[in-house]
Amino acid sequence: MKNVAVVGFGFMGMTHTANILKNKNLNLAAIVDKDVDGIESKITSGSGNFSIEGIDSNIIASINKYADLDDCLQNEALDAVHICVHTNLHYDLAKKVLSKGIAVFLEKPMTLDIVQGEELIALAAKNNTLFMVGHVLRFMSPYQKLKTWIDDETYGELRFLSMTRFSGVPAWGEWKERQSSFGSSGGALFDLLIHDIDFVNYLFGAPDKIKSDILPGALSIHDYISAFWSYDDLNLKVKLEGGNTFHSNFPFQAGYMANFENASILFTTMKPEIIQVTNNEEVHEVDAEDGGDGFYNEITYFHECLKNQEQPEKCMPQSSLETIKICYQHVN
Ligand SMILES: NC(=O)c1ccc[n+]([C@@H]2O[C@H](COP(=O)([O-])OP(=O)(O)OC[C@H]3O[C@@H](n4cnc5c(N)ncnc54)[C@H](O)[C@@H]3O)[C@@H](O)[C@H]2O)c1
Repeated sequence: MKNVAVVGFGFMGMTHTANILKNKNLNLAAIVDKDVDGIESKITSGSGNFSIEGIDSNIIASINKYADLDDCLQNEALDAVHICVHTNLHYDLAKKVLSKGIAVFLEKPMTLDIVQGEELIALAAKNNTLFMVGHVLRFMSPYQKLKTWIDDETYGELRFLSMTRFSGVPAWGEWKERQSSFGSSGGALFDLLIHDIDFVNYLFGAPDKIKSDILPGALSIHDYISAFWSYDDLNLKVKLEGGNTFHSNFPFQAGYMANFENASILFTTMKPEIIQVTNNEEVHEVDAEDGGDGFYNEITYFHECLKNQEQPEKCMPQSSLETIKICYQHVN
């Protein structure tokens, strides 16, 4: 059993907690939240843009709780820490944990500052410690299937890919207080569309050219992004579009459209159970499987890497940092 702590018991901290508790090889040793008294009451309140499976309140009641990460690190013998606080705290908290030689699973985006990201990667290497950033699309079945179809050329060569991700402006947790300060989350570019930017980076690497238009919103100057990427050698264009300029209750929707030589494929979270594979004659429905399992899959993958003392080849921190660099190319 690996001893694990979750830092930041908000929307994502609860998602991590639920999935850590599901994994029989993990022991949730501690939860850290600056609002330590609010931890237990949060379990029932629900927040975020997808629902969190019920976490047993008796289990949470029995787990050690801290208001401060330093106290937790002093008192617990930990193998790994899951950092789920807002982006402006990622660097400081990840640095504290990595400095102690403890593995870190850090929520996306790694850091908004490239130099800080490089420092964290170097620190993990120096301390021979595992470091991975949570880019969950890499572990979600509908996106994994798309990667397989591209890699295997199941439907011939990919000619065009469109990725979208829209939500209302976040109105839960600390997001409510942070809507006027751009620096804290990075806005929809670094917080929301980063999922798709990272996934396309994972598929093909950095593009040769990016054409991008942005619009401001409540969080940043780039809360809506419409971008066109070109890969010259692959003769491929990718369209990425998304944002959170809509009102808070606007339904979350994301997905992809992939135009292959022999099929055009649609996945949308508005119909999350299927992927539609179409051609001129028919529409064939492929089971999308449960995309929500991506959170369990990424956590389990991270801990398998930790157990086997392997690098997270499916989600290397260098690749996560490359994703941040690509995000910046949409504003410069
Ligand atoms: N992978 C995904 O799909 C996904 C989705 C949403 C958010 N995120 C990421 O997760 C992170 C958190 O977002 P959220 O929506 O869960 O935020 P949230 O506001 O719901 O939760 C943040 C929590 O951190 C706590 N906190 C603040 N400062 C702290 C400190 N110094 N020590 C300990 N706890 C502290 C707050 O009290 C709060 O409970 C962000 O980096 C965000 O980008 C990822």
